[in-house]
Amino acid sequence: MTSVSLVLLLLLCSYHSFVARAGNEQSYKVLDLNPSRAVCSEPNATIPSSSDGTSSVTLSHRYGPCSPADPNSGEKRSTDEELLRRDQLRADYIRRKFSGSNGTAAGEDGQSSKVSVPTTLGSSLDTLEYVISVGLGSPALTQRVVIDTGSDVSWVQCEPCPAPSPCHAHAGALFDPAASSTYAAFNCSAAECAQLGDSGEANGCDAKSRCQYIVKYGDGSNTTGTYSSDVLTLSGSDVVRGFQFGCSHAELGAGMDDKTDGLIGLGGDAQSLVSQTAARYGKSFSYCLPATPASSGFLTLGAPASGGGGGASRFATTPMLRSKKVPTYYFAALEDIAVGGKKLGLSPSVFAAGSLVDSGTVITRLPPAAYAALSSAFRAGMTRYARAEPLGILDTCFNFTGLDKVSIPTVALVFAGGAVVDLDAHGIVSGGCLAFAPTRDDKAFGTIGNVQQRTFEVLYDVGGGVFGFRAGAC
Ligand SMILES: *[C@@H]1O[C@H](CO)[C@@H](O)[C@H](O)[C@H]1NC(C)=O
Ligand SMILES: *[C@@H]1O[C@H](CO)[C@@H](O)[C@H](O)[C@H]1NC(C)=O
Ligand SMILES: *[C@@H]1O[C@H](CO)[C@@H](O)[C@H](O)[C@H]1NC(C)=O
Ligand SMILES: *[C@@H]1O[C@H](CO)[C@@H](O)[C@H](O)[C@H]1NC(C)=O
Ligand SMILES: *[C@@H]1O[C@H](CO)[C@@H](O)[C@H](O)[C@H]1NC(C)=O
Repeated sequence: MTSVSLVLLLLLCSYHSFVARAGNEQSYKVLDLNPSRAVCSEPNATIPSSSDGTSSVTLSHRYGPCSPADPNSGEKRSTDEELLRRDQLRADYIRRKFSGSNGTAAGEDGQSSKVSVPTTLGSSLDTLEYVISVGLGSPALTQRVVIDTGSDVSWVQCEPCPAPSPCHAHAGALFDPAASSTYAAFNCSAAECAQLGDSGEANGCDAKSRCQYIVKYGDGSNTTGTYSSDVLTLSGSDVVRGFQFGCSHAELGAGMDDKTDGLIGLGGDAQSLVSQTAARYGKSFSYCLPATPASSGFLTLGAPASGGGGGASRFATTPMLRSKKVPTYYFAALEDIAVGGKKLGLSPSVFAAGSLVDSGTVITRLPPAAYAALSSAFRAGMTRYARAEPLGILDTCFNFTGLDKVSIPTVALVFAGGAVVDLDAHGIVSGGCLAFAPTRDDKAFGTIGNVQQRTFEVLYDVGGGVFGFRAGAC
């Protein structure tokens, strides 16, 4: 053996032992603590082109520079603590919707009929952080609306407003039904009006026999007006004719002071945009929430075709679970968590109540046993950083003062069927804290929040009963 090949052999041996050792160590991700905030770095290329069977629109953070509203329009962003407080209100509220049915979401037998409870938003409306721009009416008027997988009835503020009660502040043009040639109000005998009654959102008739709706939120605020239909323009020539929505003439309550024009409901019940467009888009949609407010993502109606660039084969998939009593919500079965590349080895029974997947909950909630194990393993990989005081519901916090980049253990969510969702660094740590919190008790279902969903294309194939996660989509 020549000395050169001996050296090579030694190098190969040491390389092998290095790899073996690395396999036993934690794997890390680098988190950039100072991403650019001032300008919108819009990765237009990542917005899927609308094609046969799908329509895509740009989605942005409500307060980010990519938001279609003037970022200097004076919108006040809540503090982190206030946002976390509202996030807890939303989580508690969704939980209450299930009490009485005593349903854990997964495996619920669902014998009785649907329960009628108010929808989830209210003062937690502020946790709905992502907006899209759509056109409404003919000619189309641009409306900036928040998207919400946790509610069904869509609504926009309409003229006359206020009449007689005040509407909430809005940045865009007010939708005027009289100015749209395709607008129609539902009369009280229409099936669409009767359907509102099924979910407790009917509000009688006005003097002209027009169907009145009400959406009540968790904090007592509400939106009321006329249930209507008009043309909804998504991108370019993609239009939804006869789109049903609430033409809101009054929004009352503390939760209603944001400056968006309305809301698009993406829940699973009959009134949602997803259900309304089932024939066309197969009751399927996906979105990508950007890593930071300074970039944009997308919302797509319809499932990506299998194969090809953004094709269905590139998604890690897991079954979608639904509750018959509260059909709005979409659940997945989380089974374990991996920290630094190693599974915690949690018993699947820990997650027996299921995990709600929600665009409007910020922080992921885990059963206390799972949270404790995650926090402990994460802290073990963070010993080089000093601990910091808890921030609201977040108790695993670090002092990153003076640092531009930090190295954090990877965290992956492992779902039923083996789907491994290896979170983006911005989906692990937020505001210097591990962005997870425990539920109030072990029997409560958990929630996969929007922080953890960042940069993934999250596919809700409601028709097929499948969730998909595609990494690095925006
Ligand atoms: C992204 O798209 C917007 C409009 O959709 C356009 O104004 C902007 O120039 C595009 N940016 C790039 C980098 O192509
Ligand atoms: C729901 O479950 C709890 C404990 O699991 C029980 O105490 C309560 O009585 C149940 N409520 C109903 C309405 O079945
Ligand atoms: C209400 O709408 C239904 C169905 O579109 C129609 O048959 C009925 O005549 C309408 N009633 C009134 C009072 O306009
Ligand atoms: C709507 O909200 C206002 C303000 O919070 C409240 O006074 C009113 O009672 C609410 N209406 C209903 C029907 O809940
Ligand atoms: C964080 O660390 C910095 C410098 O390392 C120190 O000055 C500061 O007091 C620490 N803050 C807290 C809250 O511990």
